[in-house]
This record gives sequence, structure tokens and C-alpha cells, in this order.
Amino acid sequence: MNTRPEAHQSPPMPPAPIGMLAELTHRCPLQCPYCSNPVELTRKREELETETWQRVFAEAAELGVLQVHLSGGEPALRQDLEALVASCAEHGLYSNLITAGVNIGRARLEALADAGLDHVQLSVQGATAEVNDHIANLPGAFDKKLAFAAEVTDVGLPLTLNSVIHRANLRQIPDLVELALELGARRLEIAHAQYYGWALQNRGALMPPREQVMEALDLVEAARERLKGKLVIDAVVPDYYARLPKPCMNGWGRQSLNVTPAGKVLPCHAAETIPGLAFWNVNEHSLGDIWQHSPAFNAYRGTDWMPDACQSCERREIDWGGCRCQALMLTGDATQMDPVCERSPYHDEIQTLAIVDSKRDDDFTYRRFSRQPA
Ligand code: FES
Repeated sequence: MNTRPEAHQSPPMPPAPIGMLAELTHRCPLQCPYCSNPVELTRKREELETETWQRVFAEAAELGVLQVHLSGGEPALRQDLEALVASCAEHGLYSNLITAGVNIGRARLEALADAGLDHVQLSVQGATAEVNDHIANLPGAFDKKLAFAAEVTDVGLPLTLNSVIHRANLRQIPDLVELALELGARRLEIAHAQYYGWALQNRGALMPPREQVMEALDLVEAARERLKGKLVIDAVVPDYYARLPKPCMNGWGRQSLNVTPAGKVLPCHAAETIPGLAFWNVNEHSLGDIWQHSPAFNAYRGTDWMPDACQSCERREIDWGGCRCQALMLTGDATQMDPVCERSPYHDEIQTLAIVDSKRDDDFTYRRFSRQPA
């Protein structure tokens, strides 16, 4: 394992971040097997207070952040969500609510819209009740999501559907496109499960066969072409079958930051898996100070940290070295080339690993938030 030394010099102020993910809580009514929250969850009593989030939003605006994604867990489990949305609006921040849509009634949605909410991103686990509710492990969830989506458009808020794709719902991509159209969504995000944290434990239940992935990509491309001007479709290819790495977070410490429910500020949602990085907290530092000086943000910022092969690659400022968390997970060293890259010595190994996992028949290990201590 690499334990990268922390940077001690005072670097120049990097360009302002564009987006901030505000993880308001880890509490969630769903139990998805691909959950991207850390294995160790933050408890309710450790969550930041309303006033602290409001200060963080003010500092984000001052730093140059344009968009705040209010996320979780399920952000609507915070009773102060309206006040937090209002705070974003007060500071001129575009607010996007990322929700499972199973616990927000009409009155609350109207209150959120009145507070200045700009956009809703609704997760769907499948295109039918059977698939959706099985993956979320919550009977009745699909019907609630449909009702919620109708309310969102009725209230006049723009809607995006987001579906994490894996072996259990990959065949439903055409139905998801139809569902997005029926629900009046302007955008559909089809993102393959990322195998970190909880999803890693479920890789044998989630990894789809390569042929199905390739077929799905063709379907997405055809739908994109057919629905130009009507529905925007974003698709993220499953890493393990790709030839080139994704520019994870559009580059470490380049455009965005994540604030955890307890106030730690991370360059990406899985950064805490990297040993040796110190994450500063909004309770002790301003957001601007963290963005500029935090050792974690400076560890893999830019291109200086890259191994020689990446530094001399013409794509170094396109993919920004791929994903550090994935490099760590698959090679044991966060400074290694992302093994998704076909130039990595580990590339063939992970493709084989994906093929083996796609043939396994594991059951889901659900993320049971209800068993977390309060
Ligand atoms: Fe951490 Fe990609 S998830 S760098």
C-alpha cells in the first residue's frame, strides 16, 4: 500500500471548484447493494448542524462554487432541508436535490420549491416495480417514485432520472429511456455501478457480461440519436470493460469537492479509502482554506504526482490519471496508473476479473442502514 507523504508547501490558489456535493446524511430508506457511501457510516448525532451547513454554503459561494448537489443517503430525512435549500438560494448557488423520492409529499415538495430549489434528480433502481423494489429492497418504492416524479414536473421543477446500471437491470435500459420520457424528465443518467466500498462486496452479483454491456452501449447511442432535443442521455461505461480510464471527478481537486455528513471535505466520495491522506473538516477550517491547503486535495492535484508513463502520455490532461481510488483498490498503490488504462500492466488482469465475476451467481448483500446505530 502506498502511504503518500502529505504536502507541506503552500501552493498557489487553484482554480475555483464548480460543484460541491453536500452529503447531508447517510441515513436512507433504500438498501441498494451498490451503495456508494463509505462502509463506515456517519451516525445521525454526528451530522453537521443547520448553521454549519449554512456557513459552508456561504463559503462555497465565496470560493466560486456554482452548483450544490444536496445528497445522502436520503437528504429529505433532514428536517432542515428547506432551510438548507433557502441558504443555497440566498447565496446564489444552484441547488440540485438528489433523492430516492419515497418520502417527499406534495406539501414538502412545494415548500422546497418555494425555498428556491432549482432541480430534482430522482434515482430509479429499475424500470418496473419488480426490479426496482428488489434492488432497493423496499416494497412499494417504485410506485412512490412515479408519484413523486409526477409531482416534481407538476410543481414546475426540472427532473433528471438517474439509474445505476448492473447485471440485474442492464436489460431494462430501453424501458428506462421510455420511463424517462413518460415522466417528463429532461435528462437520463445511466451510470454503471462503481465498484468501491459496498459495491465491491457485491461485485459477483452486479458485474454484467461484456457482450451485454456492449449491446447496451449501442442501444444508448441509438436512443441518444433518436431523442436529440427531447431527452439528454448521459452514459458511464463500466470501468472494468473500458480501454481508457474515466477522468474521475474531472481531475482530483480540479472542479469539485464533497462534504461528508460529519463535515470532512473530500476530493471524491471514496477518498477515505486511501491510507495516509488527512481530510480537513469544515468545523476547523474554511472551505477556501481546505480547497487550497488541505494535504488531501494537493496529493493528486495536477500532473506532477503521476508516474512517468502517465506524465508523458498525451491524455494526461484529458483523463487526469483516471481514478486514484480504483488504482489503490486494484493494485494496492494509489499512485499507480489506473489499471483501466490499456497501457497499465494490470489491465488484462482486471478484464479477466470482470469476466469471472460476471459468471458468478451471488445474491445481493443489501446495505441495511436501519441496522446502523442512531
Ligand atoms: Fe476517488 Fe475516483 S473515486 S479518485
